[in-house]
Amino acid sequence: MAIKLLLVCLGNICRSPTAHAVMRQKAGHSGLQIEIESAGTSASHRGAPPDSRSVREGVAAGYDFGSIVSRPVSDSDFAYYDLILAMDKDNLAELKRRCPAELQHKLQLFMQYHPSYPTYSEVPDPYYGGSKGFAVVLQLIEQGCDGLLEQLKLTEKV
Ligand code: 4NP
Repeated sequence: MAIKLLLVCLGNICRSPTAHAVMRQKAGHSGLQIEIESAGTSASHRGAPPDSRSVREGVAAGYDFGSIVSRPVSDSDFAYYDLILAMDKDNLAELKRRCPAELQHKLQLFMQYHPSYPTYSEVPDPYYGGSKGFAVVLQLIEQGCDGLLEQLKLTEKV
């Protein structure tokens, strides 16, 4: 049975769509069965495609952002998904605030799977910064996705 993975940031236009695109490509190559989706704790970009700066960075590295559209986290996500990974602590706190007590164990920081955790525990919000921030985001996400895939293989959750 496939594990269901939800990747969450604030707007669902920069970090979590990048993680969505990277993870679905890496998961496809790994042979693991993972259902991957992304969402935002804010609804302010609902229906928008990923930010062009994220797409430029990701496409240059060979990732496909097709069909990814911003949508807010919904209450039903907490029951549906097996693992819900937040890009930073603010978004994790917001998920914890909204998630029923018996489902809180599904919530984690994405960076928990990165080799530099806990020295680096957040994927920084690149939205108001320059292009270097988007390059940093992509690199953290690629390394975090590799760590996550290794962990999923080890725990045979898939
Ligand atoms: P994301 O980045 O959470 O990685 O999608 C942001 C997108 C939009 C805004 C902030 C961060 N915003 O303030 O509109």
